[in-house]
Amino acid sequence: MQELSVRHLLGIKDITAEDIQLIFETADNFKDVLNRPIKKVPSLRDITIANVFFENSTRTRLSFELAEKRLSADVINFSSSSSSVKKGETLLDTVNNILAMKVDMIVMRHSSPGAPHFLSRHIDANIVNAGDGTHEHPTQALLDSFSIREKLGDVAGKKVVIIGDILHSRVALSNIFALQKLGAEVMVCGPVTLLPKYIKELGVKVEFDVRKALDWCDVANVLRIQLERQQMKYFPSLREYTLYYGIDKKMLDSLDKQIVLMHPGPINRGVELSSDAADSHHSIILNQVENGVAIRMAVLYLLASRK
Ligand code: CP
Repeated sequence: MQELSVRHLLGIKDITAEDIQLIFETADNFKDVLNRPIKKVPSLRDITIANVFFENSTRTRLSFELAEKRLSADVINFSSSSSSVKKGETLLDTVNNILAMKVDMIVMRHSSPGAPHFLSRHIDANIVNAGDGTHEHPTQALLDSFSIREKLGDVAGKKVVIIGDILHSRVALSNIFALQKLGAEVMVCGPVTLLPKYIKELGVKVEFDVRKALDWCDVANVLRIQLERQQMKYFPSLREYTLYYGIDKKMLDSLDKQIVLMHPGPINRGVELSSDAADSHHSIILNQVENGVAIRMAVLYLLASRK
């Protein structure tokens, strides 16, 4: 059996193109399982997984839980807001107490960049990063590239623009790494204040005009403005942001080509995307969510064999 080159999935930066292809091929098989009347396999029936979430989540947490249950794993869920973290317990103490209950794998979301990397130096269990602050969100990038591959046949050679709040986005960074490893051309587009200063060092194109970016690309991955991570004003108002960077269906229909529209969610309808664009035939947003379960099944299954 082929194996991943890593014991933990901490970021796309740490894995190889071969790892990504192996995850995709495994996810293809699990997607077939998910389309059967009985959507379950016994692959992880002797494994216990804790979903440890220190930040809010809808898609990622539910998608991981469903993936774990489809693989027949035992699942426990931890949410910091209702836990003894509120009484002053440290991250390492919290996780070590969870592991003392004979847990094999930790799926963790945390607001601090590097939190899962820190854990990986102190515990034996496999760790999956479900988003660490503004750093990485590897399973989101995997499901995004998997969805492009499904829609367009391949990721290699495709032109992908990531539009919006690149500065605060773990989705942007993980997507840049994944798309480049798979041979896509990557552009970022947004107000200059929402692009990191080091962006050109990542080998991406930069465009400030959203219309030119849409004319260039095969795929547009549109991001939310992460107001919860912004300590200062990066643009005058949301209304002005929408005026310059908002995308609506009329704009997409006016392009003289087909375009694939993506968004990792949650969408702020009427800000970065109009409802008619989000719900249009250009959009594969709900396909991304569907593919998330198969991708997370593949990641958990492959890591479980890397004890
Ligand atoms: N895409 C994503 O991470 O969504 P959630 O924050 O709802 O998990």
